Amino acid sequence: MATVEHLPPLWDAFRRDLAEVSTNDALTELRDKYLSRNRGVVTLELKKLGQLPAQERPQAGKLLNELKVQVEEALAEKAREISAREHSARYQAERVDVTLPGYAYHIASRHPIRRALEEMEQIFVSMGFSVMSGPEVELDYYNFEALNIPKGHPARDAQDTLYITENLLLRAHTSPVQIRTMEKQKPPVRIIAPGRVFRRDAVDATHSPMFHQMEGLVVDQGITLADLKGTLEMFLKAFFSADTRIRLRPSYFPFVEPGAEVDVSCIFCGGKGCSICKQSGWIEIMGAGMVNPRVFRILGYDHEKYTGFAWGMGVDRIVMLKYQVEDLRLLFDNDIRFLSQF
Ligand code: PHE
Repeated sequence: MATVEHLPPLWDAFRRDLAEVSTNDALTELRDKYLSRNRGVVTLELKKLGQLPAQERPQAGKLLNELKVQVEEALAEKAREISAREHSARYQAERVDVTLPGYAYHIASRHPIRRALEEMEQIFVSMGFSVMSGPEVELDYYNFEALNIPKGHPARDAQDTLYITENLLLRAHTSPVQIRTMEKQKPPVRIIAPGRVFRRDAVDATHSPMFHQMEGLVVDQGITLADLKGTLEMFLKAFFSADTRIRLRPSYFPFVEPGAEVDVSCIFCGGKGCSICKQSGWIEIMGAGMVNPRVFRILGYDHEKYTGFAWGMGVDRIVMLKYQVEDLRLLFDNDIRFLSQF
């Protein structure tokens, strides 16, 4: 039976219990033990008040309520203590030592192909060329038809070209940009068009189904084969070295006449002959030629008035020569050990 004498020992017991509490969970448990609705020690004492003689009830009730308030206050105080401690523990854990040295982040370098392309563009821009681009997914018309490669022509061999539909393909060269440029622009034309091209080739040290070309096109009055040779020679001397020589070998591309393969003197042996140039002293790096008048006719250019030359150089080949990379796959594997050398 609840009596006023019970209260001091009850308070002492509560204080002892409270002293042991250091976490929120333990605090909740303690609150339940003393104040829960149906089994809290203090609650039960309050319920027992009704059994006291009437004259003791007001006094006992008052004291018991005071005790309950004290318990509630002590619990609230403890809750504040715990949360303050958790806060400072978190601050401690999250503290940053601003005097520590920073992390050394790896700064990416430009890919060798990107580097070479930028250098090549810079040289041509300094010679008065503008830089054009065209879509990688291309219409048959631009990749073949308008370049004087009609349906059934051997150069269309489906072995090489990656078709999407009958009329849509991944461009097999950058030459379609010649057509797109001449459609939009009247002569004089002086452009380069670097970009990716695609062919159905198995991957090995010198082949990849995706590679890069840089197209060039010059159209004006009085342009000759000597301008082609002079332009390319000037570019290659600037890009490789002043003693670089070039050589044109007759070749055939339907959109140029005459056509040629262009070789540079071997960068490795200077033309004496080595394993890289297969003892020939020369390395082939592009196709080129005088724009076929039939192409001008397709585009509505006056082929009596204008002449022009074009080339398509193998950028990856040139990168391999410039940086002495022996395996084309290195350029596309994205191995950081290789890339970080540039
Ligand atoms: N487009 C040809 C190729 O990919 C190269 C080329 C371009 C030849 C321009 C002549 C003139 O092989």
